[in-house]
Amino acid sequence: MLFFIDTANLDQIREAAALGILDGVTTNPSLMAKEGITGEANVLKHYRDICEIVGEDRDVSAEVIATDFKGMVEEGKRLAELHENIVVKVPMTPDGVKAIAHFTEIGIRTNCTLVFSAGQAILAAKAGATYLSPFVGRVDDITWDGIALIKEISEIYDMQAYETAILAASIRTPLHIVQAAKAGADVVTCPLPAIMGLFKHPLTDIGLAQFLADHKKANG
Ligand code: E4P
Repeated sequence: MLFFIDTANLDQIREAAALGILDGVTTNPSLMAKEGITGEANVLKHYRDICEIVGEDRDVSAEVIATDFKGMVEEGKRLAELHENIVVKVPMTPDGVKAIAHFTEIGIRTNCTLVFSAGQAILAAKAGATYLSPFVGRVDDITWDGIALIKEISEIYDMQAYETAILAASIRTPLHIVQAAKAGADVVTCPLPAIMGLFKHPLTDIGLAQFLADHKKANG
């Protein structure tokens, strides 16, 4: 399972990249706004900066703002031209699916976002999306089961031999990451605290303290 970080914060991306386990980055308009990145020139520069930080062969999802087919295609092409790492993120709407099918035809990679059902997952796969982003946390927020959705889509994609990769998004906790892996996600995109939470185990801390104490006692 690939590990992406879900942020537009450059320091957090650097920190995750330094761990040596980062495979890519996802952003969305809310995350860009949170970093105060406004105006097309600044937005494009920010995407380029992210691509440079993560290095070669690390996918960076950049989301279109346009909602009509023509606008999505024009914007998506501008984003894709920015850097070879860019994957154009497109919302799950009829125009979005049409744009994904068009991007697939002309060789531009896509991430179909705002996915909340298996039916939507089938549409995105039929259009040839590179990635599919089901929002685990937001499904949980309405007391449905986000991880069950990942499992359902994984079963369908396996059965139908769809090539679209399942990118579990809206991940909120370290447990979500483990559950997404068990449910068959190909990729998980997470905020930095959820990634760092995976490291935590009291027995690791106790064991390390004991090893160091024993070494000190023996070596003075
Ligand atoms: C990722 O691609 C999504 O935009 C993101 O994971 C949404 O997460 P949230 O539900 O925590 O905002």
